[in-house]
Amino acid sequence: MDITQALPLLGGLSPQQFMKRHWQKKPLLVRQAIPNFKPLLARSELFELAANEDAQARLVVQESGAAWHFKHGPFPRRTLPPLKQPGWTVLLQGVDLHHDAVHALMNRFRFVPDARLDDLMISYATDQGGVGPHYDSYDVFLLQAQGHRRWRIGRQKDLSLQPDMPLKILANFQPEAQYVLAPGDMLYLPPRYAHDGIAEGECMTYSIGFRIPNRAELARELLQRLAEEAEDAVGVRLYRDPDQAAVEQPAEIPASMLAFAQDALQEALKDSQAFARGLGQYLTEPKPQVWFDSVEPSKQLASQLLNCGCRLDRRTRMMFDAQHLFINGECLQASGRDAALMRALANARELSAREVSQLSGQALAQLLSWVEAGWALVQTC
Ligand code: SIN
Ligand code: CO
Repeated sequence: MDITQALPLLGGLSPQQFMKRHWQKKPLLVRQAIPNFKPLLARSELFELAANEDAQARLVVQESGAAWHFKHGPFPRRTLPPLKQPGWTVLLQGVDLHHDAVHALMNRFRFVPDARLDDLMISYATDQGGVGPHYDSYDVFLLQAQGHRRWRIGRQKDLSLQPDMPLKILANFQPEAQYVLAPGDMLYLPPRYAHDGIAEGECMTYSIGFRIPNRAELARELLQRLAEEAEDAVGVRLYRDPDQAAVEQPAEIPASMLAFAQDALQEALKDSQAFARGLGQYLTEPKPQVWFDSVEPSKQLASQLLNCGCRLDRRTRMMFDAQHLFINGECLQASGRDAALMRALANARELSAREVSQLSGQALAQLLSWVEAGWALVQTC
């Protein structure tokens, strides 16, 4: 992607300008971000997905402007309220994992690192449907897909919530601006920006959301992964205490044992490569509801890979850092031309037949194993 090129998607800003001026700073309203945009899934397909065990569906119903009801799916069609009933919304998280076209739409936002891109959520609402005034802790692009939605937004500091509600609803919402979005219009909101979107007639909104790891979560994840490697990192040296004096208080933990434990932990934390490996593995871990469709190994598959190239499955997460390559929670070794080609695969999510033919035998076998596991798909040619 040319990050200096002005894009209609960003209202004529280049990705570079957008990131500098708006990202995590201030909202951006883009009229006709995607001109002539048509929903990628029909209402019936959305409802089918809402009934699926593997989809993450939520239902929000507001009863005549008062009580809010909230439920987790799956929702067989008969369990959703009637279409004539106003004021309800069904939200489907991670639709990019189920549909290639939705995944391709999300990829238009890859001017932000993959480590930050999370998922594309689709909401379907009947007239007056919404999830109430709230804030999210992540950045979001709200793309209007069908019908109209009135967004009211505000940058308020008071983020206190109404007590005893089944969902997060701001206690004192103070909107400063409002916009009615039509199909193809888009609104970017930074984290913690108060907003309330109310459907005006039947409405579908696509939310491109970002993941924001917090320090505690990262520390926990990395410590868990470091723990798995601890034996190799610090060695199995036994505690020794030839200078231990006789004690009068046997229940007291010896200070030297605390020092021994601290030293072992510090030794494990010294390995910055282990940190980098842990982070990459964590960031590329597939979501819990994801599974891949493996295929039978065959000579034909291998020759199709060489003749036609391959692309990553939409569910595959592949990233790299200065020293490592990561795919679906695994860390792998590659150097020289292989590493350059694997990085190209991670960035473009595809390799041409020419690029595949430049891989070493070992890297080609690796790639073939991903095809067999369903992590990558051979192209047809
Ligand atoms: C919606 O699409 O109904 C809600 C999206 C949001 O407010 O984040
Ligand atoms: Co929101």
